[in-house]
Amino acid sequence: MTSSLSPVPATAADQPAIDALLDRCFGMTRRTKSSYRLREGSAAVPGLSFVVRDGAALVATISFWPVKIGLAGHEALLLGPLAVDPGLQGRGLGLMLMRHGLALAKAQGHGLVVLVGDAPYYAKVGFAPLPHEAILMPGPLNRARFLHLELKPGALAGASGLMLPPWRHDDIIARLRRG
Ligand SMILES: CC(C)(COP(=O)(O)OP(=O)(O)OC[C@H]1O[C@@H](n2cnc3c(N)ncnc32)[C@H](O)[C@@H]1OP(=O)(O)O)[C@@H](O)C(=O)NCCC(=O)NCCS
Repeated sequence: MTSSLSPVPATAADQPAIDALLDRCFGMTRRTKSSYRLREGSAAVPGLSFVVRDGAALVATISFWPVKIGLAGHEALLLGPLAVDPGLQGRGLGLMLMRHGLALAKAQGHGLVVLVGDAPYYAKVGFAPLPHEAILMPGPLNRARFLHLELKPGALAGASGLMLPPWRHDDIIARLRRG
């Protein structure tokens, strides 16, 4: 663990450096992933985006995004993207960022966090595969990589249907109500 590096809130001015870090870590095709469909037209949850700086360099990032599941609009957070500069990987920064963000998400009152990622890594902070296939993603999905964490016991109960950005969910509900 790199002791002198710690998470600080991300600012709007960090966005170009965050995008450059994500391109380095995930490659230029990252925006084709299903998780990106869930962030389109949305903003990250206020107070839950963090970066780590090493001097002037931005070396790690995490954010959480609001999603709604199914017609009932079951609320959850989508964790990601999470990325650590390749030169600093394996020193505990990723786990530190997740623990920091998850603790604050819990303090904000959020109950359920979902993500698409490597199960053995995210298991280190308590994520587990979904126990059922009732939640659908808007796009291709490897279900072994579709993970969840309850910040409140029972928060997953009743969550079923298509996961969408809140604005898309609310738009569909409004259309259904209009007939
Ligand atoms: C994945 C990533 C965020 C991990 O951050 P990191 O700071 O390098 O990881 P940490 O130092 O916090 O964690 C290290 C531990 O996690 C393990 N780990 C790291 N990446 C892993 C992975 N993809 N799968 C399984 N275990 C992994 C390490 O083996 C190590 O385990 P140990 O403590 O038992 O030795 C970082 O490597 C990264 O940005 N990768 C490229 C982008 C990416 O793939 N992000 C999303 C992953 S789904």
